[in-house]
Amino acid sequence: MSEKKQMVGDVYYPTPEVVAQAHVPDYEKVNSAAVADLAGFWGRIAAENFEWYEPWETVLDESNAPFYKWFVGAKVNIVHNALDRHQRTAVRNKAAMIFEGEPGDVRVLTYQQLNHQVCKFASVLRSMGVRKGDRVTIYMGRIPELAIAMLACAKIGAMHSVVYGGFSTEALHERIEDSQSRVLVTCDGAWLRGQIVELKKIANEAVDRSASIETVICVKRTGQEVEMVAERDHWYHDLMNLPIASPKAATEVMDAEDPLFILYTSGTTGKPKAILHTHGGYMVGTATTLKWVFDIKPEDIWWCAADPGWITGHSYIVYAPLVLGATSFMYEGAPTYPNPDRWWQLVARYGITILYTAPTAIRGLMRFGESWPEQHDLSSLRLLGTVGEPINPEAWRWYYRYIGKERCPVMDTWWQTETGSFMITPVPSMPLKPGSATRPFPGLQVDVVDEEGNPVPPNEEGYLVVKTPWPAMLRTIYGDPDRYVNQYWSRYEEQGWYLPGDSAKKDEDGYIWIIGRIDDVIKVSGYRLGTAEVESALVSHPAVAEAAVIGVPDELKGNIIKAFCILRQGYQGSEKLAKELKDHVGHEIGPIAKPATVEFVSTLPKTRSGKIMRRVLKAQALGQDVGDVSTLEA
Ligand code: WTA
Repeated sequence: MSEKKQMVGDVYYPTPEVVAQAHVPDYEKVNSAAVADLAGFWGRIAAENFEWYEPWETVLDESNAPFYKWFVGAKVNIVHNALDRHQRTAVRNKAAMIFEGEPGDVRVLTYQQLNHQVCKFASVLRSMGVRKGDRVTIYMGRIPELAIAMLACAKIGAMHSVVYGGFSTEALHERIEDSQSRVLVTCDGAWLRGQIVELKKIANEAVDRSASIETVICVKRTGQEVEMVAERDHWYHDLMNLPIASPKAATEVMDAEDPLFILYTSGTTGKPKAILHTHGGYMVGTATTLKWVFDIKPEDIWWCAADPGWITGHSYIVYAPLVLGATSFMYEGAPTYPNPDRWWQLVARYGITILYTAPTAIRGLMRFGESWPEQHDLSSLRLLGTVGEPINPEAWRWYYRYIGKERCPVMDTWWQTETGSFMITPVPSMPLKPGSATRPFPGLQVDVVDEEGNPVPPNEEGYLVVKTPWPAMLRTIYGDPDRYVNQYWSRYEEQGWYLPGDSAKKDEDGYIWIIGRIDDVIKVSGYRLGTAEVESALVSHPAVAEAAVIGVPDELKGNIIKAFCILRQGYQGSEKLAKELKDHVGHEIGPIAKPATVEFVSTLPKTRSGKIMRRVLKAQALGQDVGDVSTLEA
C-alpha cells in the first residue's frame, strides 16, 4: 500500500469507554436534529445551561444578514455565568485556575478567589472612569492577572483588546491607536526560556507613539527595574491595596448582543482587523463547543496550552472553561525550558486530563524523541486536541501514540478568530482520520466549492464555505462594518455564505481536510500574520524602498517567512543588512514575524495596476511553474 493509500484507510475508532461517557454519543443523530431546527437547537442549549437576567425574544435574527443577531432582547453578562453564579454552589471552592510560572512558582485560584480579584480590579477600573463600551488594551505575559484583567473589563461592560505578549512596539501601537483605548494594562516583563521579555519597556515605546492612552497599570511579575511615568503609570498591586479596589462590584447588565471584546487579527490587506465578539452568542458557542468536543466533566483538569493573547486563549483558557465551572491550567513559559520534558512533567504533576495545543508544538517536542515523555506518568490524560494549522499525519500519530498511549482520541479543531468557537471538529465518539478536522459541529453546514459556489467532487481542492450562522460568530469588524461585509460575505453574496479564507478538500465520507490559506495570511508556528504587516515593517527601515513577503512551507513551523526587498539608493545588500532587517521586523512586530530569509532584488513582479504578485514569488521560491503571468507589468 502506498503511503497515501494507508493514510486514507487510516481510521481510528473510539473505545466503547470513550463513547459511553461522551456528551455526544451519536453525532449523526444530534447533527441532523440541529440542522433541521438550528434556532430550536441553540435556544434549548442556551436556556438549559446558562443564566440570563432576562430571556430573549428571538433566538436568531437573520433580517439584516450578514449582521446576524443571536438571543435578541436577552440580558446577560458572560462574567455572571463564568464567576457570579458559581459563588452560590460548591464550585466556589473548586480551582478555577492553576498556574505554574516558568521559574516554577505555583498559584491556585479558586472560583471564590478569582471572583474576589476580578471584583477588586473591576472596581479599580470603574474608579478610573472606565465605563460600558470603553476599550481597554491588555498587553501581558501568560499570568493569571491577564485573565483577571479580561474578566474585570467584561464585568463592567468595557471591551478588552488583548495584544499578544509576543508582539512588539509597532504592533501594539497600531492596535492601541485603532481601538482608541485610554487605559493600558501591562506587566513589567514575562519569563521566556529563562530570560525576561521586557514588556513594560515595549509598552512605553508604544505608548510614546500613541496619543489615546492616559493611564497605564503595570503588574509586577519579573521584578527588574522599569521606567514608570509619573501620573500616567500605576502599579497594579498598589491599586489593588487601595480602598478603591472594593471587592463589592456589581456585574453590568448587558444586552446579549453588546460587545464583549475586540481582538485584532491579520487579514488579506492592510492593517489588522478588530474582530468583535458579544456577550450572549459567544458565551453559548464557546462553552457548548468545549463541553461537547472535549467532553468536559467536573473532575477534569483542562490545559489549553495556547496564549490568552490569541482567540484560542480567549475562548478556551479564559471564558469557556470558567462558564463550565471547570479547572483551567495555565503555564507561563516555553515547552522546552529547562528541558524538553517540561510539559510532560506538568501533565504528571497536575494530573492534566485533557491537553490542547498546536501542531507546531507537537512537531517541536517530537524532535526530541519519545524518551522525554516516557520518563513521566501521562496516564491522567484522556483526550488530546490540536488547533491552528493542518496537522501532518506523522505528528498526529506521534501525539496519539506517545502522549495519548493509543487511548486518547485527538480532536483536530478547525476554527478562527472570527468564528469564536470550534467549527469543524470531531467529537470524541467519532471515528478519526489523522490530518482531517472531520465534520462540522452539530447544526453547522460547511462545504467545499468552486468559484461559482458549486460543490467540487470528493477529494478535490476548493474554497471552504460556511452556509449557516452560529452563535459565537463575529458580529462585525469594530469601526469598519463595510470591511466586514466585503471580507467575509461578498465572494458568495448571492448565496449568503461566509468565506473563511481557507482551501480544503472533502472526502467520500464527508470529512473535511483543511489545506491552507488562500489569501495573504501566513501561519507561522500556528500564529496568524499578514504579509502587509511584515512588509510595512520592512519598509519602515530607512534602507528599504519596497518589500514583498511570502510564506514558504517548513517542516517544523508549518510556514516560514521569506522577504524580498528593493533597497533605496545608496544601500548595498549584505548579510549584515539582512540581519538588521530581520531584527527590525522583530522590534516592530515581534520575534514571530522575523523573516527567515531576506533576499535583495531589483524588481518585484507586479500586475499592471501595481499590485505585487506574491503568487509568482512563491512559485519561483518553490521551483514551481509560475503559471499565467499575462497580467504582469510589462
Ligand atoms: C488555520 C486560530 C487546519 C486556518 C483558532 C484558519 C487550521 C486560521 C486549524 C485561523 C486546523 C486553524 N486545521 N488549519 N485544525 N485551525 N487553522 O484566527 O487557516 O489565529 O483560517 O484562529 O488557522 O487562525 P486564527
